[in-house]
Amino acid sequence: MTAAAPAQSLPPGPKGSRLTGNLTEFKRDRLAFLERCAREYGDCVSIRLGPRRAFIVNHPDLVEEVLVTRNKSFIKHFALRLTKATLGNGLLTSEGDFWRRQRKLIQPAFHRERIAAHTATMVAFTERMLATWADGQTRDAQEDMMRLTLEIVAKCLFDADVSGDAAGASVAMETVLRSFTARVNTLLRLPDWVPTPTNLRLRRAIRRLDAILFRVIDERRRNRQDRGDLLSMLLQAQDEDDGTGMTDRQLRDETMTLFMAGHETTANTLAWAWYLLALHPEAEARLHAELDHVLGDRPPTFDDLPRLKWTDMVVTETLRYYPTVWLLGREAIEPVTIGGYDVPVGMTVFMSQWVVHRDPRWFDDPKSFRPERWADGLAKRLPRYAYFPFGGGPRVCIGNAFAQTESVLLLATIARRYQLSLATDAAVTPLPTMTLRPDKGVKVVLAQRATR
Ligand code: HEM
Repeated sequence: MTAAAPAQSLPPGPKGSRLTGNLTEFKRDRLAFLERCAREYGDCVSIRLGPRRAFIVNHPDLVEEVLVTRNKSFIKHFALRLTKATLGNGLLTSEGDFWRRQRKLIQPAFHRERIAAHTATMVAFTERMLATWADGQTRDAQEDMMRLTLEIVAKCLFDADVSGDAAGASVAMETVLRSFTARVNTLLRLPDWVPTPTNLRLRRAIRRLDAILFRVIDERRRNRQDRGDLLSMLLQAQDEDDGTGMTDRQLRDETMTLFMAGHETTANTLAWAWYLLALHPEAEARLHAELDHVLGDRPPTFDDLPRLKWTDMVVTETLRYYPTVWLLGREAIEPVTIGGYDVPVGMTVFMSQWVVHRDPRWFDDPKSFRPERWADGLAKRLPRYAYFPFGGGPRVCIGNAFAQTESVLLLATIARRYQLSLATDAAVTPLPTMTLRPDKGVKVVLAQRATR
């Protein structure tokens, strides 16, 4: 097919079936399908998922156009709206003036000083987890990281202890994520109120997560003191008497969104980091050497961060190699031209971190895990959107600095004390749901390190 057939102005793309378009191939292996589209059709690709035609852009400059330069022509895409049953109208899914107001309200909770103040909690909670670990144990690093990051986000943002709820919350999260994938995969979807097994499972999972959140909110309501954390800020906004305060429902939606967006992503990143380090002993040895040199026999603090350079590069490279947010989508709300093609109202544009982060035009030997590639200012030399694990433009991840800091500190705190080796030789496969997670966890065996 030639580019830009003028009659329809559609970019080239893979042929699909008349009824379902490319949906069957997409469902079978999403990552391989996106890679094939880029390899065979280039920077602008047209696909059809059932009745929906979509446009994929694979060039950093085009990603920048969609996320930044022309962001006003787009809203979040149809698949994300399927999460509304769980997330409601929180920061991730809301739009327009309403989103802008909420973003402004929540942003101060992520300022640098606030993150610095949270680092002691991040390290203390990790040490608390390590106190339950022992030499020779086999563990699932994914599960452990999920529990730990959930406890941390609850403590840092809502000053709540959810250690008793963490296991239940993880199961509920898993249900929510799997139901989300099932929904995207289904062409003809029954409404949420129809009691299908998937809808019933989802409702139970949401009730479980709601119960945790409402307990946290109620506890705080009963004890009205301002603790200066995000929950206090949200409750204050709710109390405003000028009619713009938040309703109870809105309060629940924002807390649920931060709870969900704020822990699974970081947990996946850490689980992938443990997997990649175990597969790359040289990278792991450099990590241990840095920790021994910078920390010696004490846990890390905020002030150590500038010196934990290798640890930071391990996190950066992990987010390149296994970007936990692997696909972003935007839907056009006005006719717009991207890459020389017309994007009509209602069409979704997809941008995949998985594809762009593995493009040899930007990254040498992209399928190798090499933290050292970030050493000499690569980030500055790259086109701005060749690496975009946290998205970009006005909807950039609000928790990006929190997540990077947390990932570095948790990795450092754990790797200082333990070496994690893979319990089996079986490769861990990435499962692309709403996030990119290890399909069946990451089973590791612990070996206690001799601390100096
Ligand atoms: C490694 C960890 C993380 C990654 C890779 C990540 C990635 C992303 C990405 C790519 C987006 C943009 C989505 C889009 O444009 O459609 C996003 C948005 C968001 N993230 Fe994160 N995130 C991480 C951690 C966190 C944490 C720790 C929090 C909060 C504590 C958080 C809260 C949010 C929220 C609320 C949004 C929506 C922002 C808005 O639209 O205004 N994320 N994240």
